[in-house]
Amino acid sequence: MRAVDLIRAKRDGHGLSRDAINAFVEGVTSGTWPDYQISALLMAVVWRGLSADETAWLTDAMVHSGARLRFDGLAHVPVDKHSTGGVGDKTSLVLAPLAAACGAPVPMMSGRALGHTGGTLDKLESIPGFRVDLDEAAIARALATVGCALVGQTDAIVPADRRLYALRDVTATVESVPLITASIMSKKIAEGIGGLMLDVKTGTGAFMKTEAEARRLAASLVATGTRAGVCTEAIITAMDAPLGSAVGNALEVVEAIETLKGRGPGDVTELSVRLAAGLLMLAGVEVTHAAADRRVRGALASGAGVETFARIIENQGGDRRVVDDYARLPQTADVELVGAPRGGYLERLDAEGVGRAAMALGAGRDRLEGAVDHAVGARVLARPGDAVRAGGPVVELRHRAGRGLAAAVALVREAIEVGDTAVPPRPLVLGTVDHPDRHP
Ligand code: URA
Repeated sequence: MRAVDLIRAKRDGHGLSRDAINAFVEGVTSGTWPDYQISALLMAVVWRGLSADETAWLTDAMVHSGARLRFDGLAHVPVDKHSTGGVGDKTSLVLAPLAAACGAPVPMMSGRALGHTGGTLDKLESIPGFRVDLDEAAIARALATVGCALVGQTDAIVPADRRLYALRDVTATVESVPLITASIMSKKIAEGIGGLMLDVKTGTGAFMKTEAEARRLAASLVATGTRAGVCTEAIITAMDAPLGSAVGNALEVVEAIETLKGRGPGDVTELSVRLAAGLLMLAGVEVTHAAADRRVRGALASGAGVETFARIIENQGGDRRVVDDYARLPQTADVELVGAPRGGYLERLDAEGVGRAAMALGAGRDRLEGAVDHAVGARVLARPGDAVRAGGPVVELRHRAGRGLAAAVALVREAIEVGDTAVPPRPLVLGTVDHPDRHP
C-alpha cells in the first residue's frame, strides 16, 4: 500500500480502509513513512475528517503500536479521569485519592504542563521526593496496597502518538476532532482501565473555545472509548476563569490538600466530588449517582481522602509530611499584587491570561523539554461577579526575584475586565455526554 495513494484518497474525500489505516500507523511506528508524507496525510484528515469507523480503527492501530497494560485480580474495575486541559485545575490530586479511598482502583496517567495549561505531573513533582516514573509492576503493587498510582506515561505506551503529536504540533494539525480523539483515547485504552471519566473544558481558557465544539469532541471520545470496551462518560465544564484560587504547581498542591481537608474552594470541591462519584460508578463500587456522591462526601468528611493522598505520596517516594506542613513545599517570598483598574464588578478574569502569566513567571513551559519553577504562580483573590474597588486586589503573583514579572503583570491586567453590573458566571458543569448503550 503506497503512502501517496492513501494521501490522495483522503485528500479527495474518500474513506480509508482498516488495512490502509493499519499501514499508516505501522509506517509511523517503524519509521518507514517519512515526516512529509505523514504530515500530508494528517493535513488531509484535518480538512476531510474521519468517519466513526476510521477514528476507531486509527485509535485501535495506535493502541497496538505499543504495550497495553493489564491489571488483574482487583476487586473493582480500574478507572481513570482525563481533562482536556485547564488553568488551576488541580482536581486530579483531589478526586484520585477520594475515589481510591472509596474502593475504586485508580491507575492515573497524567501529563505535563504545556502552554497556558497546567500538568498534574509537574504539580506532583513539587512534592519533595515524589516519583512519577513507576513501571507496570509498581503500578499494580500500588493499586493492591494504596489503591492508586499517580504516574506519567511510560515510553512503551502508544509510541505512534509521540511521533504523530510532535509532527501535528509543528504542522498546524492538532485541531482535528478525530486526531485528538485517537491521540487521547489510544493512550487511555492502553493504560489497562475499564472506565474513564472525561472532563471536556470549554471557554476562553480551554482548547475548545465553544460549547458546541466541546460537545462534538466529547461525543467522539465517548463513542470511541465505549467501542474499544472502556466505559466512557464525559462532562462538559466551563473554563472561563481559573478553577479555584491557586495557579502554579506547589500552590495548587496546597489548595488540593486543603480541599481534601474540606476547606477548598467551592468549585474545586464540587467538580472533584462529581468526577470521583462518576469514577465510583464506572468502577462498579456504587450503582446510583446518589450513593456514589454520598460515599465520596463521606471520604472527604472523615479525612479518608487526605489520608489516602498521604499514603500515595509515601508509596511514590515523596515526603508525606507536606500534607500537614506546607512549608516543606517549594516557596517564594516575592509577591506582587495586581489590582482592579476601577471600582465595580469583576466581569471577566480570563483563564488563559492568568495561565499565561503563571507560565511567564516560570510555572509552565512552551516546549515539553523545558524546566518549571514549582514555587511560582498566581492566586486569584476576586472572582467574576465579585464587587471590587479601584486598585483592590484581584490577582497575587508569586515570582522568583522578578523573573518574568513585567510580562505576567501585563497579561493579568489584560485578563481583568471590570463593569458596572454583577454578571453571574455561567454554571461550572454545562452538561454530560455518555453512551446511549449504557442506558438501554
Ligand atoms: N492531548 C492529547 O493527548 N492529544 C491531542 O491530540 C490533544 C490533546
